[in-house]
Amino acid sequence: MWSSLRECSLFAFFLACATDPTASRDPAALDRADTAAADADTSDSSSGRDSDAPRHHPEGFDSSSVHGIEAKLQTQDCRSCHGADLDGGTADVSCDSCHPDGWRTDCTFCHGGGDNGTGAPPEGIDDADDDAAFGAHTSHVTEGIHAAFDCGQCHVRPADALATGHLFVGDSTPGVAEVEFSGGYSPDASWSGGGCSSVYCHGNGNGSTGDVKLGDDVQCGTCHAVEASWWTGGWLLLGGEHIKHLWAGYLCADCHADTVSSGDTIFDAAKHVNGQLDVALPAGMAWDGSSCSGTCHGETHSGRGW
Ligand code: HEC
Ligand code: HEC
Ligand code: HEC
Ligand code: HEC
Ligand code: HEC
Ligand code: HEC
Repeated sequence: MWSSLRECSLFAFFLACATDPTASRDPAALDRADTAAADADTSDSSSGRDSDAPRHHPEGFDSSSVHGIEAKLQTQDCRSCHGADLDGGTADVSCDSCHPDGWRTDCTFCHGGGDNGTGAPPEGIDDADDDAAFGAHTSHVTEGIHAAFDCGQCHVRPADALATGHLFVGDSTPGVAEVEFSGGYSPDASWSGGGCSSVYCHGNGNGSTGDVKLGDDVQCGTCHAVEASWWTGGWLLLGGEHIKHLWAGYLCADCHADTVSSGDTIFDAAKHVNGQLDVALPAGMAWDGSSCSGTCHGETHSGRGW
């Protein structure tokens, strides 16, 4: 294999590294019981180790589909030999010798690019491209009727590969992606495997009222009434003085002008499902968070509550 690991660092990316991504990602290839004894390749290394010493890893371990998945599932603690920062350690082989610069902060390096380039699945931790756990990543992490959500809405977002709780450091549940809502708009939410409950983001704007299951058809009007909901009686479910104004012919864009234009069209996704109610009233009117003032439709609203 390698005549020296220095050669590895120089050539691996062009030889093994460049061709490796096409290598089979067959999990069966990971079934190696005794890695230390399994391989008797006595290649030398730049570490100056005894060239007759048995290799620690089995033949073929340099393939990303083999050593990568062992790192991802933490079947052994790479840091114990490759160093706390994975830059050499007693093994004298730095992970940086083959990986491209910046791999520790490149979220697609281990998570794949897939549908959205953010690192969010479809590629699962086991490398399978099936997004089995949560098939709705792409609709959440890309802009739609809301801005693209950060991972931090539903997980603790690591700053890099070595962040505490991620995989190498302080993660007591290897191979499991923890769901953690406390850093997002829906701190009361919980994930049950097939769906989420008590979710602010899927609610009606009045607290943690939303429940949703994977595969549900989430439309305008699923979470709260919109303009088109008048004929189902949905307007009655909007809070405060909505019904009075809607029956009088005022529309959403009259009071939520930063969020919607006419006809249930989101005008600025960044203002919708952003954790706060955005009220933007017609000229001459003001909203202070609890009451209106100014004159509209011929009426003076001096400090009138909603
Ligand atoms: C001999 C060269 C080499 C060394 C040394 C090396 N890697 Fe890799 N590794 C690769 C290549 C090549 C890839 C694939 C890169 C790509 O897809 O762009 C890879 C990919 C990975 C992946 C992603 C695999 C996946 O399927 O998502 C992980 C995780 C990984 N390596 C962990 C490590 C760790 C941890 C170390 C150090 C202990 C290390 N590697 C050292 C060559 C190496
Ligand atoms: C018990 C010590 C030890 C542990 C734990 C360890 N390694 Fe290594 N690793 C070595 C040594 C020593 C070498 C140098 C070559 C050899 O002896 O196999 C090496 C070399 C490598 C290489 C270069 C390719 C090769 O086969 O030589 C890669 C890639 C690698 N290790 C990845 C990892 C990853 C990923 C982990 C964690 C999943 C890990 N290692 C855990 C000791 C270790
Ligand atoms: C709207 C909430 C939400 C957002 C936003 C989100 N995730 Fe997830 N993610 C989940 C849920 C729920 C699971 C399923 C957890 C489980 O039961 O295994 C999951 C699972 C995962 C998994 C494991 C997948 C598997 O099948 O092995 C990874 C990796 C992951 N998320 C990474 C990310 C990254 C990276 C981001 C940001 C770019 C992100 N997630 C954004 C909710 C979210
Ligand atoms: C060296 C490979 C690697 C890199 C690089 C990497 N991740 Fe991960 N990530 C994993 C693995 C493996 C898991 C499954 C987690 C476990 O064991 O807890 C994971 C889990 C996650 C999760 C789910 C929550 C958790 O901790 O379980 C999120 C979110 C996440 N990663 C985001 C990111 C982001 C953002 C980046 C870029 C800053 C990134 N990852 C870079 C391997 C990696
Ligand atoms: C006359 C002005 C006005 C009109 C018209 C209006 N809203 Fe509101 N809306 C408000 C005010 C004021 C609030 C309360 C904001 C607060 O409590 O901070 C509000 C709150 C909301 C909330 C939070 C939950 C609730 O029920 O109070 C939602 C969702 C909402 N509006 C959606 C709509 C939609 C959709 C339309 C059109 C069908 C609409 N609004 C029309 C003024 C209006
Ligand atoms: C997944 C649930 C969900 C769906 C679907 C949804 N909304 Fe909302 N909407 C909310 C939540 C939650 C709020 C509360 C305010 C916030 O966080 O932005 C809100 C607030 C609003 C508001 C009040 C203004 C504001 O920015 O606070 C308007 C207007 C609105 N939505 C219109 C729409 C329209 C039009 C559609 C369809 C294109 C739609 N909504 C679809 C959840 C939803």
